Amino acid sequence: MKQFTLCGTLIHAPECGEIEIIENGLIEVDEAGIIAGLHSPEAEQHATIKQTAFASNSLIELSAGQYLLPGLIDLHVHAPQWPQAGNALHLPLYTWLQEYTFPLEAKYADLAFAEKVYTSLVDTLIANGTTTTLYFATVHLSATKLLADICLAKGQRALVGKVAMDSPAECPDYYRDASAQQGLADTRALIEYVRTLPGNEQGTVLPVITPRFIPSCTDEMLTGLGKLAAEYDCHVQTHCSESDWEHNYVLNRHGKRDTESLKSFKLLTNKTILAHSCFINADDMTTIKQQRSGIAHCPLSNAYFADAVFPARQALDLGLDVGLGTDVAGGATPSLLQNCHAAVTASRYLEGGVDKTLTQHERGVPESRINFKEAFWMATTGGGQALDLNIGLFKKGYAFDALVIDSTVTGSNLMVWEELDQDVLQKIIYNASRQNIRKVWVQGVLIGGVDRPVG
Ligand code: GUN
Ligand code: FE
Repeated sequence: MKQFTLCGTLIHAPECGEIEIIENGLIEVDEAGIIAGLHSPEAEQHATIKQTAFASNSLIELSAGQYLLPGLIDLHVHAPQWPQAGNALHLPLYTWLQEYTFPLEAKYADLAFAEKVYTSLVDTLIANGTTTTLYFATVHLSATKLLADICLAKGQRALVGKVAMDSPAECPDYYRDASAQQGLADTRALIEYVRTLPGNEQGTVLPVITPRFIPSCTDEMLTGLGKLAAEYDCHVQTHCSESDWEHNYVLNRHGKRDTESLKSFKLLTNKTILAHSCFINADDMTTIKQQRSGIAHCPLSNAYFADAVFPARQALDLGLDVGLGTDVAGGATPSLLQNCHAAVTASRYLEGGVDKTLTQHERGVPESRINFKEAFWMATTGGGQALDLNIGLFKKGYAFDALVIDSTVTGSNLMVWEELDQDVLQKIIYNASRQNIRKVWVQGVLIGGVDRPVG
């Protein structure tokens, strides 16, 4: 059964580096929120489908200056760090974790605080056009369940993980799993909870096995999490080769690079997302590709905590599944569009180099740049591929997760000059913000946008 048909200018990125724009395109969405048909104006049935939808009052027509994009997929968010977005970015990773982040995350033992923050964050991400988020929560089982409840109630597609961190050497006494066994039991309890959550029959909220990163977990914990990943065939997320400190820590402890270490614990699967990965080399990329794992590239966060630029060009050329992450709050903004912009900029600095005292040829890493089309692919199609979910583009059988960008809104930074031949998507990436996001759907359900204020 058809739920509605949408008619308008559709923009998506079926292939990395290529944008398809379909003017006067039609998307048929079925009762389950799945795309049942996609038709360009040349299609024979176009007129009939449009007329039938109009006659049955199920046609949604976009106006001139409005564009339908696939919903944005944020592959890396720390939900409990939302209160410190834009704060405490002056410290290196290790100190930032110990002095600011762990004390903040410890507060989520308090469910009232958790509810306040998580409600605000989910509303904000939806308003920014993020239809799917891969969340790190905290060590607390109850607050993590609450985050899953809030995402389900608000209709955001979400993958939610209880953070596992049990190493007494690296985690403070006041904020860690009581033991590896306790952390594993709580991880199992979260998986069972989310999978049987009433109202979640379509699986729009999914559980994630979440070792914070190798330094914060004992080998007993990593071994147990690997077993759970196999037992439940569920998603896995962690931080990988993020900074010099973290990368060297793993080399010292395991005598291996992060990817090899994670692989040895059976934590590198086709449903694994590795955040950052700035320090991965060609061998790591081969391992990631062989394991069919994905990468969450977080360009804004990397400027503060990685002190290096992720080799996006190289990873995309190798065909890796790379998506984008805001890393709230290692990254200061909840906007994935801003991270598209940042991914392009970071790659340009990497290619051009930054130290003018070196000659032009010594300064940068040749052939490192990516463009806005590739950044947009990462924010949509690439993110969907990384998660192994049918989301991120307009295609029959894919979930209708989408947003409407309106370039005619007054008082916004986005202006499209119809009389000039302009690259609309490029303008959207660089200048659209939440007031341009009129509608946001997940699985065919309208969940946000300025036309439908959330709350
Ligand atoms: N590595 C371990 N924990 C974190 C975190 O919260 N943020 C970032 N950026 N890196 C981490
Ligand atoms: Fe992170």
